[in-house]
Amino acid sequence: MLAFIRAALVVAAAGIYSVVRAQTGCERFYIVQVGDTCNAISAAQNVSTFQLALINPEIDPLCDNLFADEQICLGIAGEDCETVHVVQAGDSCANIAEAAGIQLSTLLANNPNVNPICTNIGVGEVLCTANVTIPYQNVTVV
Ligand SMILES: *[C@@H]1O[C@H](CO)[C@@H](O)[C@H](O)[C@H]1NC(C)=O
Ligand SMILES: *[C@@H]1O[C@H](CO)[C@@H](O)[C@H](O)[C@H]1NC(C)=O
Ligand SMILES: *[C@@H]1O[C@H](CO)[C@@H](O)[C@H](O)[C@H]1NC(C)=O
Repeated sequence: MLAFIRAALVVAAAGIYSVVRAQTGCERFYIVQVGDTCNAISAAQNVSTFQLALINPEIDPLCDNLFADEQICLGIAGEDCETVHVVQAGDSCANIAEAAGIQLSTLLANNPNVNPICTNIGVGEVLCTANVTIPYQNVTVV
């Protein structure tokens, strides 16, 4: 089980949110392999870029400190989005939401790292496309 405390202000381009949490309840684990990147793990394991960063604060924002054989958490029970889309060239939030059959507002609510006008998504980034709002605790979009 993972148990840690965090207090962080995470700034991703223009999507800004703050997090204060003490957390337990990891329900999906992953052992880092040689050559992994955060987005490759996210795409292969159905985890959004936001969620992976949120629950693994020891991984730095550039994701250049992953270690082979390190165990990371993919999802916390009760706040685990497992429905995702990997951003492709030419994608917009509107077409991602439409293809997933969800409201644009739901897409933005579940991906607080994306700015409200969706100008900061990048190819390979993984977005949560669940049709419900994931109740990420203690995450406040500011
Ligand atoms: C959210 O914050 C409250 C109050 O600080 C704390 O008791 C609770 O453990 C936090 N929840 C999570 C999941 O971090
Ligand atoms: C990821 O989601 C897809 C589509 O639902 C599914 O086919 C695949 O098995 C999932 N992979 C993992 C590792 O959960
Ligand atoms: C998402 O929810 C809306 C409203 O309940 C529904 O109309 C739509 O079909 C759902 N989409 C998917 C992909 O489940």
